[in-house]
Amino acid sequence: MVVLINIAFLYNVKKVAPSLENPEADIYAEFDSPETIAGIRKAIEANNHKVICVEADEYAYHKLKELKDNKKVDLVFNIAEGLRGESRESHIPAMLEMLGIPYTGSGPLTLAVTLDKARTKEILNHYNIPNAKFKVFNSEKEQLGDLKFPLIIKPLAEGSSKGIKDDCVVYDEKKLKKKVSEIIKKYKQPALVEEFLDGREFTVGIIGNGKEAKVLPIIELNFDFLPKNAAKIDSYEAKWIWDDGTSKIDPLICPAKLDKNTKKAIEDVALKAFNVLGCKDWARLDIRFDKDNQPNIIEVNSLPGIIPDPKENSRLPRAAYAAGMSYEELLGKVIDVAGKRHSINIK
Ligand SMILES: Nc1ncnc2c1ncn2[C@@H]1O[C@H](COP(=O)(O)OP(=O)(O)O)[C@@H](O)[C@H]1O
Ligand SMILES: [Mg+2]
Repeated sequence: MVVLINIAFLYNVKKVAPSLENPEADIYAEFDSPETIAGIRKAIEANNHKVICVEADEYAYHKLKELKDNKKVDLVFNIAEGLRGESRESHIPAMLEMLGIPYTGSGPLTLAVTLDKARTKEILNHYNIPNAKFKVFNSEKEQLGDLKFPLIIKPLAEGSSKGIKDDCVVYDEKKLKKKVSEIIKKYKQPALVEEFLDGREFTVGIIGNGKEAKVLPIIELNFDFLPKNAAKIDSYEAKWIWDDGTSKIDPLICPAKLDKNTKKAIEDVALKAFNVLGCKDWARLDIRFDKDNQPNIIEVNSLPGIIPDPKENSRLPRAAYAAGMSYEELLGKVIDVAGKRHSINIK
């Protein structure tokens, strides 16, 4: 077999499975399981690259420096979520930038900004990209201003629906205060309060850069599998507990059924947000219709999840399958666009 390039694969390992009872589960919500890590490694190898696995722990810098000094790395395939801190997703890319090792995906600035949902929204507002009206609460005593119920409350800077439980959608001031105070205390960060967009929800994968960035088939979230009284949101319970692969209802519809103009409006808003935030190589954007069926950006996932097991309904792989790509081809494509961006000769 001809080895194309040497790829160091950087990740964080999930040590506790998703659960509503075990408080430790939250700490690992964004990390990847050993099965996912093994699956990604295999898929990169299937593209004829040599893979060196590097856990993105506190020794990561030294391991990367050694690989660089020994000329054993051409590119890093990065899915590291970061160990801790408000800019955690940017830590590995910042080290790589310093060491001069090329890597897949967005840089430290974009990763740090998109992890902070309010900062992201400020940038979107600057470019007139629709998103829900919001306010950051540092204490439950703050005034709501002109925000209108229903509202949704989430931790300012988390992912994987961490802290977004079924009871995060509130209809009155009392419940708002209770939830804001709970989130600030539990997640040790401000709470983001947003007007609730109750239209259809989509998630949109993008691969590529600049004019060559391509939108994958749009996924619509199907909330019909949720328990009857559950809020129509992609909550922690919805993502990790209720979607256990046993429901007869597929929680994702891909490609989403949309007329041409609506599809284009969603694609345009996704690409615009991807570009103004400086995303590189790939991302997945959550989008929801407002009451006028205008697509609003909910969130920009500049480090999208890629669980290989099809039963897990991981979104970006699901969109890639609908585009006729295999899992291996999806990762191969991300590596190719990153290689091209860094002028690495892969083939
Ligand atoms: N303003 C909003 N209006 C309606 N639903 C929302 C809003 N913000 C978040 N949600 C719901 O909560 C889910 C999780 O929110 P999101 O910000 O994407 O968090 P995460 O980073 O955990 O994925 C969304 O997929 C959506 O279903
Ligand atoms: Mg999301």
